Amino acid sequence: MKINLISLIITLSVFCCSYTIAEEKVSNNNTNLDKRQSLGLTAAEKADFLAEMRQMLTSIQGIMDGIGTNNRALIIKSARYSGNRMARETPDSVKKKTPGTFKQLGGPTHMKFEELAVRAEDDEMSELAALTADLMKNCLACHAMFKVDK
Ligand code: HEC
Repeated sequence: MKINLISLIITLSVFCCSYTIAEEKVSNNNTNLDKRQSLGLTAAEKADFLAEMRQMLTSIQGIMDGIGTNNRALIIKSARYSGNRMARETPDSVKKKTPGTFKQLGGPTHMKFEELAVRAEDDEMSELAALTADLMKNCLACHAMFKVDK
């Protein structure tokens, strides 16, 4: 009898516990919890847009690698990749969808990559690291505000 009671308690607590976990999963899927503004991109626009984003992360990796190994050519090459070239390549359809606040963060981000490429010619590595950290504030600010999905 004692054993039966214990196993009943165990069964109940496992049931309660899994119920709570299941409930949490449902609420995590609730898009209302994600307050970021949607850019409402199509599937194709989204694929291109996110590929460019990953390239920007690749640029940051190259820049940090260059700063760490004193490789100015690598910093310049990595920064140029996400500079004006990338800004020019943004498709018109995406440009039309993005609001002013997005553009105010996006444009200057590419400009800062260009600035970094120029300053990497002879600035101190510590200054280049500080400039990269400053540039990355734009990544954070925009990510806090926008998402690609509807
Ligand atoms: C002007 C806005 C903006 C700026 C600036 C910006 N991003 Fe993004 N990024 C976005 C949006 C919007 C998404 C999609 C987020 C979502 O839908 O959850 C994104 C997604 C990403 C992703 C995920 C890619 C994927 O495949 O899912 C990476 C990585 C990323 N950004 C890197 C960066 C880096 C690094 C920087 C700065 C050097 C940066 N972004 C600057 C708007 C921006």
